[in-house]
Formats: sequence, structure tokens, C-alpha cells
Amino acid sequence: EKGTFQHFMQKEIFEQPTVVAQTLRSYLRPLERQVALPQMDFDISRIERVTIVACGTSYYAGMVAKYWFESFARVPVDIDFASEFRYRDPILPPGGLALFISQSGETADTLAALRHCKANGQTIAVVVNVPTSTMAREADLLLPTHAGPEIGVASTKAFTCQLAVLAALAAHFAVKKGRLSAEQEAEIVAHLLEAPACLNAALDHDAEIRAMAPLIAPARDVLYLGRGQDFPLALEGALKLKEISYIHAEGYASGEMKHGPIALIDEAVPVIVIAPSGPLFEKTVSNMQEVRARGGKIVLISDAEGLAEAGVGCLATIEMPKVHPLIAPLVYAVPVQLLAYHVACVKGTDVDQPRNLAKSVTVE
Ligand code: F6R
Repeated sequence: EKGTFQHFMQKEIFEQPTVVAQTLRSYLRPLERQVALPQMDFDISRIERVTIVACGTSYYAGMVAKYWFESFARVPVDIDFASEFRYRDPILPPGGLALFISQSGETADTLAALRHCKANGQTIAVVVNVPTSTMAREADLLLPTHAGPEIGVASTKAFTCQLAVLAALAAHFAVKKGRLSAEQEAEIVAHLLEAPACLNAALDHDAEIRAMAPLIAPARDVLYLGRGQDFPLALEGALKLKEISYIHAEGYASGEMKHGPIALIDEAVPVIVIAPSGPLFEKTVSNMQEVRARGGKIVLISDAEGLAEAGVGCLATIEMPKVHPLIAPLVYAVPVQLLAYHVACVKGTDVDQPRNLAKSVTVE
């Protein structure tokens, strides 16, 4: 079943161009350059507030989505870990949309949060990969990711497909709210349609990433930095590395580093910087200088422009295609997944079945 791949995780990483294209096909009308969401039996234009609840990698997809909902639709979004949400007596004004993101559709905390929101009059939308799951059955609006079965315990293709669905949903929401013109919608659709080719271009760097894995494998701690909508990618990169290589890793918002974690930096702590070129790039470069001044070793993941500006003196660089910011979180997911994968292979861990983890967490 793994075909020519060594692990399910590796196979699933490489499936991403195909499955993301498949997912996008069911949420976009390419010829009309429009988003096409399933029929809704509620009026989404009247939603004034969105609550996103999820766990783990699905939660990080939600963090990216918050960014999109707020910037496209200008609707405030509250987001929380399912295990925290339920116990903080969240404010759920009538008419709110509660959005649950889950690969399995069975995660106990997320399901309990869903039922809590339902009991409190929220409209329930779910983004799930298993269409027969409990969450899928209990939703008012079911938005399946069409990633196909994900076997590796560490989530990869489900994440990028979640992002694809969430981007389409955010654009649809914004159109219905009158916050996006037809031209802007067409542009968003065009950029989303570029994602599969860009994912392929990112995968072309596999051999390079494999070659640099031995530089990271001996580390005891690794820091990941990202800004804006790429901050969740830093968290996701750190989670992937922890899960399968058992190296301690932390994701930080680039600008937060100087407020504490910078104390950890020395020659033994690699810092993975996720920074596409763009308006925020300069700021990230100055954060990189702070790392370098303390002897820290940087792996910079950026595009040609970013690497030309800041790649010199890095321990290693990974060149991504130049992409529109909207699809950067999908494309930059690939190098962080591959880095975790190859480091785990160097360490010889059980990549598909990491210790202490289960694919579906059905206990609270
Ligand atoms: C990360 C991972 C977990 C899951 C989390 C949520 O690689 O696999 O963090 O993302 O347990 O699971 P779902 O999405 O099934 O609700």
C-alpha cells in the first residue's frame, strides 16, 4: 500500500498536490473563478462571530483560518483548543457560527465542544476528513476534506486539505458579507488553483532536505519562528518534529523570541525560520540577526528573493517557489513536514506509529 514509499507519512506528504487539487475541485468553480460551497440552510451573511475549536494540527489550521476570516470577511474569530474551550464558559452569542476542524471527526474534546455549542444555539460547521465520522453526522454544515485515508499518525495531507477548504469558506463568507468583489473573489480562486503546482515545486526539494537532516538530528532543542499567517506553521513544524523525532521543539512568533526564548539560543539550538519574502520579511531578518549574534544556527525557509537577501551565513536554506501569501501556509507546510520526516528517519524512530500517540484521540 505504501508503493515505492518507505512510510505512510512520506506517501501522504507526496500525495498533497493531488489531494489538495481534489479538495479544491469540490469547493471552487475554476472556469467561473468562483467559490462553490455546499448548500447551507442558514444565512451565512448574518453571522457576526465565528468560534473555531480544534486540537493539535487541526487547531493550527484553525489559526490560519482565523487570519483569513478576519482579513477577508472582517468578522471577529475566537479560537481555542477544544480541551480549554469547554471549561472556560465561553461566550456564545445567539446566531454565531461554531467551526470544528478534525481529521478523524472523532476527537473526544472537539466532539464535546461541538455538542456544547449546539446546545447553546450555535450553527455547527465541521471540516472533517472522515465523512462517516460522528462530527460529520452532527454538523449543520459538513465540509469534507478529500484527503483520503490518512494512516500516518502525524497529520500531513489532512492539514493542507483543511487549509484549502478553510480558504474557500473564508472567501465565500466574505463574498456573502459583501466584503469581496467578484474580481477579488476571482483572484483568490486563481491563487488557490496555483496551490497544487506550488506544492509540487516544494516537494522537489525533498533530496536537499534529506541531506540537511543529519545537521538537525543531533539537536536536543529546535526553535521554529514565523510571523503572521506563517506563525501557525512554526507551531506545526515544531509539533511534527516533536511527534516523530522526539526532539524538543517550540514554535514561536518571530517577534516574541526576544521576550524570552532568545535565552535558549546557542550553537546547539537550530532555529528554523519560516519567512516568505514580503512586507514582514525585514522584521524577520532582524530577528534572525538576533539569533546569529548569539551563535544560533539558522535554517531559512524562504523564496529566491528572501534567500538572496538573508540566506548568507545560514546553516542551511530551503528555497520555496514565490507564492501568493494566501497559499504560503499550504506550500510552506511541505518543507516543515519533510524536515521532521527526514530527521526522524536519521534517528530511526517509528515514523508512522510514534510512541505514546494514537491516530484518533477518543478520550478526553
Ligand atoms: C498531529 C496530530 C494530532 C492531531 C490531533 C487532532 O500530527 O496528529 O495533533 O492533529 O489529535 O486530531 P483530529 O484532527 O483527528 O481531531
